Amino acid sequence: MTVPVFDTLKRPLRDLRISVTDRCNFRCTYCMPKEIFSRDFQFLDRELLLSFEEIERLVRLSRELGVHKVRITGGEPLLRRDLEQLIASLKALGGLELTMTTNGALLARKAQALKDAGLDRISVSLDSLDDTVFRAMNDVDFPVAKVLEGINVAHEVGLGPVKINAVVKQGVNDHTVVEMARHFKDTGHIIRFIEFMDVGHTNGWRLDDVVPAADIVAMINAEMPIEPIDPNYRGEVARRYRYKDGSGEIGLIASVTQPFCGDCTRGRISADGALYTCLFAVKGFDLRALLRSTASDEEIVKTLSEIWAARDDRYSEIRSSETVDLPKVEMSYIGG
Ligand code: GTP
Ligand code: 5AD
Ligand code: SF4
Ligand code: SF4
Repeated sequence: MTVPVFDTLKRPLRDLRISVTDRCNFRCTYCMPKEIFSRDFQFLDRELLLSFEEIERLVRLSRELGVHKVRITGGEPLLRRDLEQLIASLKALGGLELTMTTNGALLARKAQALKDAGLDRISVSLDSLDDTVFRAMNDVDFPVAKVLEGINVAHEVGLGPVKINAVVKQGVNDHTVVEMARHFKDTGHIIRFIEFMDVGHTNGWRLDDVVPAADIVAMINAEMPIEPIDPNYRGEVARRYRYKDGSGEIGLIASVTQPFCGDCTRGRISADGALYTCLFAVKGFDLRALLRSTASDEEIVKTLSEIWAARDDRYSEIRSSETVDLPKVEMSYIGG
C-alpha cells in the first residue's frame, strides 16, 4: 500500500536519484576540477558503497511513500560493475520509471544491456559539439565523436527520447549553443541547456559565469524560431520549447535565474547511502547504517517518512552570497 508523504512545503516524495559511484572517468571543470579530484583524492572504498541489494531494498521501501521514478547517477554510473543487474532488480519491483544520467563514454558498449535489463530512458551529458571545446571541458581529452556514437546506439536500442544535457558556461561553450541546438533539431533527441550552478564548493562558481536561460532562448530563437510549451508533468525541471516548424523540442534548466524548488519532489541518495533532501545540502542522513542494522522494513519506512516530512529545502530560491560559500556536498558524490 502506498501512503504518500509530504514535506513542510506540501511537496510529495516522487523521485529518487541514486548515485552508484562517486568516481568518474571525466574531470569536467565545473564538477570535478582536476586540482581537487587528483590521484590523491580519497574516493569511497568499496565497502562504503551501498550494495545492489541495499539499493533495491531502499527503493522497494520508498515506493510505499510514493516514489515512482528512479534515476541512477554518479559520478559516472556506468563505471559501477554489473550495473545492469541493479537495473534488472529495480525493474522487477514493477511500476517504476527507470532512468539514468551518464556522460556517454561507455554508452555505445552498454546501451543494449541496459535496455535489456529494463532501463526506460537515458540522459547524456554533452557540453559542446566542438571537439576542442568538449575535450577542454571534460579535461581528459575525451573526443565528442564517442559520445555521439553512444547517443546513437542508445536511440537505436530504444532508450529514447534521449535527453542531452549541456552545461553552459560564459566564455567557455556559450558560442557553441546554437550549433548544438541545430545539430539535434529533427533527430528525436531533446537537448537541454543547463545554467552553470553553484553545486559543491570546489568549482569556483561565480554568477558572472552563468549564461541566463533567457539569453540562450533568445540566441536560438533568432535563428530557429521556438515557442514555450507546457511541462510533461508537474515539477519537471526543464522548461520546454518547441520549434515552430515542428521539428522537435529543447529544454532549459534554469536553476539560477528561474528556480523550480516549489515543485521539487526529488530525494537524493549518495553513493555511500546518505539521503539528501536537496542538491545543495550540506548534510545527509546515514541510511547505510540503518540498512546495515537490525532495523525492520517498517522502521526504515518510518525514518524515510520522518526525514521527508521535516524537509524545508528550497536552496535555489534563497541562493545568496552567503549560501554560495556553504560547504555543500559535491555533485559527483550526490549525483546530478
Ligand atoms: P526527466 O525530466 O525525467 O528527463 O529528467 P530530469 O531533467 O529530472 O533529469 P536529469 O538528470 O537529466 O536532470 C538534468 C539536470 O538538471 C541535472 O543534471 C541537474 O543539473 C539539474 N537538476 C535536476 N534536478 C535538479 C534539482 O532538483 N535542483 C536543481 N537545482 N537542479 C536539478
Ligand atoms: N552546474 C550545472 N550542471 C552541472 N552538472 C554537473 N555539475 C554541474 C554544475 N555545476 C550536470 C552535468 C550532468 C549532470 C550530472 O549534472 O552536466 O548533465
Ligand atoms: Fe563526471 Fe558528470 Fe561530473 Fe562530468 S559532470 S565530472 S561526467 S560526474
Ligand atoms: Fe530541489 Fe534543492 Fe534543487 Fe530546489 S535547489 S529544486 S529544493 S534540489
